[in-house]
Amino acid sequence: MANACEFFTPSVPRLRLRRRIQSPIEIYRTGFRSPEGFSLRVFCSNTTQGSDKFASGSGASSSKSRAPRLVSQGCKLVGCGSAVPTLKVSNDDLAKIVDTSDEWISVRTGIHNRRVISGKDSLTTLAVEAARKALQMAQVDPDDVDLVLMCTSTPEDLFGSAPQVQKALECKSNPLAYDITAACSGFVLGLVSAACHIRGAGFQNVLVIGADALSQYVDWTDRGTCILFGDAAGAVLVQACDGEEDGLFGFDLHSDGDGQRHLNATIKENEMDNALGSNGSVSDFPPKRSSYSCIKMNGNEVFRFAVRSVPQSIESALEKAGLPVSSIDWLLLHQANQRIIDAVATRLEVPPERVISNLANYGNTSAASIPLALDEAVRNGKVKAGHTIAAAGFGAGLTWGSAIVRWG
Ligand code: ACO
Repeated sequence: MANACEFFTPSVPRLRLRRRIQSPIEIYRTGFRSPEGFSLRVFCSNTTQGSDKFASGSGASSSKSRAPRLVSQGCKLVGCGSAVPTLKVSNDDLAKIVDTSDEWISVRTGIHNRRVISGKDSLTTLAVEAARKALQMAQVDPDDVDLVLMCTSTPEDLFGSAPQVQKALECKSNPLAYDITAACSGFVLGLVSAACHIRGAGFQNVLVIGADALSQYVDWTDRGTCILFGDAAGAVLVQACDGEEDGLFGFDLHSDGDGQRHLNATIKENEMDNALGSNGSVSDFPPKRSSYSCIKMNGNEVFRFAVRSVPQSIESALEKAGLPVSSIDWLLLHQANQRIIDAVATRLEVPPERVISNLANYGNTSAASIPLALDEAVRNGKVKAGHTIAAAGFGAGLTWGSAIVRWG
């Protein structure tokens, strides 16, 4: 395995990236006003907005910004890794089990293959492999990790998979490890959470893992969904640094539970247990054992939601970062559908050569898709130290969000 130096060298902050496009005069919560040289300061902010506004076509400018917060502690992305299962399933393979074709899937989604967990593969083994690679690139010992954030909607334990990952990594100091459930937005949420832990609570090395095995919740007789998903894991090591080196320039996060009707895998009651009552009749006690139904999705609605809300979210995150769209080196969206990626890029006027896409090989890998694509792009030399990336996730919840980050 190559070491970190082969992938990037320590970055020098690019001053042009921090030139704000808004007025440099801000009032902080603490009451301080910005001094001269303010453009090097780092802000952390969020907005509140429902997806109905997007659905009804109202603009991103209606976003209600919270007061910017000056942060002295920065964080940066210093390592990445990924892992995929060995079993490859092609479009032709799927055409043997549902009424579909390679042509339909390729044209409508851009997907050709996906990887599916089988044999000895598991969510945890993939997550651990991705995390180990990220630590190796970052040249950070597992003992120095002080937080593991496992972004997944398919944990192997109801109580969370993160502690099992922490155990397998042999982090001797028993660092905090917990799951974040936000479907395909999970990794972006994990990145922002890592930054908050570092900026606000003094954490030094935070492993953010995006890992999902949606194949276990797919109805393999439903051609509308089974063609889309694959399993994978990706990881990033986020490390504390000086505020002036901060690599999270701005972010924008949203949820809208009303849209859940368009995409869900809800709990289902076990029919056998339904019949069990303490005196032979149907009873509410003892509670019934539950499991989850397969993924149900209104693809057209989710598609519309994505192409409307994602560009607005990225614009909002860029605005908070004080950066124009032209400053983005790479657009890195959740890899759901090539047509969604193309539509968002067109709306933002980002040329195709600055768009990262690898879903042809892996399909929609949910929380893993962004770190998986990032890892490939870093290792093949596309993404270099100092590059600015606009990353955006979207999906079930509904949840969606963007983060403007610098690599390295
Ligand atoms: N093969 C062949 N025909 C198909 C298939 C298939 N696999 N699936 C649907 N069709 C048919 C439909 O039955 C329909 O036929 P009809 O016209 O005779 O009724 C026709 O193709 C068109 O169907 P649409 O659903 O309108 O196809 P569309 O172009 O919208 O593509 C798709 C469907 C790929 C699902 C698209 O809507 C999509 O990508 N949506 C977004 C999904 C997404 O991004 N999810 C992200 C979140 S995932 C998460 O968070 C867990």
